[in-house]
Amino acid sequence: LASIDVDVSGVQPGMSLTVQWRGRPVFIRNRTEEEVAEAQAVELSDLKDPTSQNENAPSEPATDLYRSAGEGRENWIVMIGSCTHLGCVPLGQAGDFGGWFCPCHGSHYDTAGRIRTGPAPLNLPIPPYTFASDTMITIG
Ligand code: FES
Repeated sequence: LASIDVDVSGVQPGMSLTVQWRGRPVFIRNRTEEEVAEAQAVELSDLKDPTSQNENAPSEPATDLYRSAGEGRENWIVMIGSCTHLGCVPLGQAGDFGGWFCPCHGSHYDTAGRIRTGPAPLNLPIPPYTFASDTMITIG
């Protein structure tokens, strides 16, 4: 009941999908190599929130690896689409860092969903999820 299965076989690099989970939007993005490289190049010291905010790796830092689906699946990012400022839904592929932009009060998130500028205090949260297969994600 609390978990959902999402078929991501049609989500090519550069594409994303939004699904509803527990009444909230969840963004699933298949990042391009450039987007991953850009996120990997960011120093932790440049981040406003240096923690992963990832329920699957809760005590890890906000490196791109721990924001992504992990080793071998670095291209995938799965996040709850709720701005950590006051809960608006950020827009994808937008903002100064090419990730997400929250139009409510101007928070800019990078391609790993980490808050970079604006009033939001934390990175976009990552829900519990696993890859049931290469093309199926179970969220929750
Ligand atoms: Fe997103 Fe305020 S709710 S910036």
